[in-house]
Amino acid sequence: MQQKVTKAIFPVAGMGTRFLPATKAVPKEVMTLVDRPLIQYAIDEARAAGITEFIFVTSRGKGALEDYFDHAPQLEHELRKKGKTELLETLKSTNMESGAIAYIRQHQPLGLGHAVWCARRLIGEEPFAVILPDDVIAAKKPCLQQMMEAYNETGGSMVAAMEVEPSRTSSYGILDTSKEDGNLVKLKGMVEKPAPEDAPSNLAVIGRYILTPTVLQNLNALEPGAGGEIQLTDAIAQEIRESRDVYGCRFRGERFDCGSKAGFLQATLAFGLAREDLRDDLGAYLHSITQVDKAAQ
Ligand code: G1P
Repeated sequence: MQQKVTKAIFPVAGMGTRFLPATKAVPKEVMTLVDRPLIQYAIDEARAAGITEFIFVTSRGKGALEDYFDHAPQLEHELRKKGKTELLETLKSTNMESGAIAYIRQHQPLGLGHAVWCARRLIGEEPFAVILPDDVIAAKKPCLQQMMEAYNETGGSMVAAMEVEPSRTSSYGILDTSKEDGNLVKLKGMVEKPAPEDAPSNLAVIGRYILTPTVLQNLNALEPGAGGEIQLTDAIAQEIRESRDVYGCRFRGERFDCGSKAGFLQATLAFGLAREDLRDDLGAYLHSITQVDKAAQ
C-alpha cells in the first residue's frame, strides 16, 4: 500500500499572453468554459482523486483567482431569499474548506520545474500530485483518479500520457518507453520538447503528475533545460536515471489544450454540447453554420 496522496500543486503563475488582451485583467485560469472557470475543472478532478490540500503557485495579478475561492455569504443569502436552490447548490459546490488552500508566489518565471519547487516546503516528505489547469480532460472517470488507482498498485512516479502527432513533439515532454502493461508504460527516459527527428516516441506527457518527494530534491540542484527553463520533465528523467520506477498512464478521456485559443474554443463546444440545457440550441446553431459552409463550397 502506497502513502496516500492528499496534496496537489496547481502551477498558475503564467502570464497567459496567448489570451491577451483578456488576460490584462483576468487571470487565464478564471476564464470560463461555459460557466465554470478553468481552475474549477482542475479542482473538481483533484477532489475526485482524494486530494484535500490545494497549493497554488501564483504570481502578480492573480488576485481574482484567490477571490474566486472565497465563500460568498452575501450572494448565498440573496439566492436563498429568492428560493434559487439550484444556483445555491452550484455555488456551494465550489466552496473550499478553510485552510485547505495555500498560495505561494513564484517570483520569477523560471519554468514549470521551478514553479513546483516553490511549493517544496508545503509538500515535505510526501508524494504529491501536479495538475496543469490548461490541460482540461473530459472523462467518465477523472484522469487523476485513473492515475491514482494505478499509482496505488505501482508506487513510483507517474505522468499522464497521450499520443500526439509526430510533428508536434516539440510542444511536449516526450516519453521513452520500455515495458507496456495494459494502460501503463514503464519509462526508460523522458525528454522535454524534442524536435521530431530527436523524439524517442510520439507519446507525450499531459499535465497530470503523481510524484515522489525525491523529484523535489532533484529540482534543488537542477540547471535550466529546454527553452532556458527549469523543467519538471528533467527532474522526473533523473528519477529514471537513478533507477526509480516512473510510469506513463494512458488515460481514457478527451484532452483539450486550453492554453491555445483553438483548444479553448473546442472545449467550450464540447462542454456546451454535453450540457442538457444547452445541447439543443448549440447543436442547432452548429448544424446551421456547417450547412452554410457546405453550401458555399
Ligand atoms: C508542460 C510540460 C510538458 C507537457 C505539457 C503538457 O509544457 O513542460 O512536458 O507535455 O506541459 O501540456 P508547457 O505546455 O507548459 O510548455
